[in-house]
Amino acid sequence: MQYLASPIARRFPGNDGEWARFDGPAGTQMLDSAIDALDEFAASGDNANSHGAFSASRACDELIETSRELVAKFYRATADGVWFGANMTTMTFAFTRAVARALKPGDRIVGTRLDHDANVWPWHEAACEKLVEFVLAPFDAKTGRLDTEAMIDMIDERTRWVTIPGASNLIGTIPDVRAVSDAAHAVGANVFVDAVAFAPHRQVDVMALGADAIVSSAYKWYGPHISAMWVRPDLIESLRPFKVRPSENKGPARFETGTPNYEALAGLNATVEFLIEFGMDAIRAVEEDTFEPLLTGLQSIPGVRCVGAQDMVDRTPTVSFTIDGFHPDQVAAMLAAERVAVWSGDSYAVEAGQTLGVDMTGGVVRAGVVAYVTDEDVQRLLTAVERIASS
Ligand SMILES: Cc1ncc(COP(=O)(O)O)c(C=O)c1O
Repeated sequence: MQYLASPIARRFPGNDGEWARFDGPAGTQMLDSAIDALDEFAASGDNANSHGAFSASRACDELIETSRELVAKFYRATADGVWFGANMTTMTFAFTRAVARALKPGDRIVGTRLDHDANVWPWHEAACEKLVEFVLAPFDAKTGRLDTEAMIDMIDERTRWVTIPGASNLIGTIPDVRAVSDAAHAVGANVFVDAVAFAPHRQVDVMALGADAIVSSAYKWYGPHISAMWVRPDLIESLRPFKVRPSENKGPARFETGTPNYEALAGLNATVEFLIEFGMDAIRAVEEDTFEPLLTGLQSIPGVRCVGAQDMVDRTPTVSFTIDGFHPDQVAAMLAAERVAVWSGDSYAVEAGQTLGVDMTGGVVRAGVVAYVTDEDVQRLLTAVERIASS
């Protein structure tokens, strides 16, 4: 089996070669060292809670502080802005609830139609509560590219927040976040980046992106089910989160409601150590080698239509497609029968599905490459898609 010959693919016990796993954009298999770290924590006797006088509690305190430092390195940010939560959606709702407290009627929030709904609806809810205007920048359905100029034109003196994806979870396109954040900062607005679909494939760098807040989910980059947000430290101090009185009153921990998931933090630390050591550029190179033949292979099959960007420029290794005459759910079921895992529908990118004109026809079939997907997996997918398209 080819997967045994691939040194990186061997690091994922859940990827045993039986299935070709193109479901990475929805969640990846966990790295071996992350699984070990999670297990070791659970068996260590350090299962306790923070801020106690005894050693197990101190170990919990140290664990979460190490996690803040490691995520800061991973995001090229500072540890005093990092906080953790169950997943990006929960954290973003908690964040926008705090943001909403400082908004005034007449303010404006600018988002995009390229985003996952978890970076649309929390802002919509905050806007509704405070009678704030919420507008969404368009993208080109043919190229899948965000209309940067149109978005910049929407950013005016009333704008308090601009929110943008690092990459589209549905079609993989990577917008020019920096151009948008420069425009936002020119009018004194803050920039929130949803890096959930970006961080598994590219180096996050908060300074380069111009992000004031950024979030991603470890289970999309080979870690456990936990998410990490960084917020500019002075900004995080200025916000008033919903919290109980006795919990932390300073720093990012103010946003962490209740007891942290320590075992997941242990797994996250091992994952981040691996990604920093392996390097995100190396991950990108491995993925692009595998992805290019997938994209060109799909494009060459009669009856298959790839949606959005048709090239390798500024995109993650995620492609969405339809097959003439087949509902996307039908295609996903037929591929599953051949042990090929893909997703069908809009993958919660509601506005993107509408812009692409697939919202009334069941959406698309989404196939994503991650580091453990092999050339053999790609061949399996292409052969199966060819068979379906010609049947
Ligand atoms: C781009 C993007 N943003 C947000 C989310 C929501 O992430 P979570 O499941 O961690 O809430 C996802 C999940 O697929 C996503 O792909």
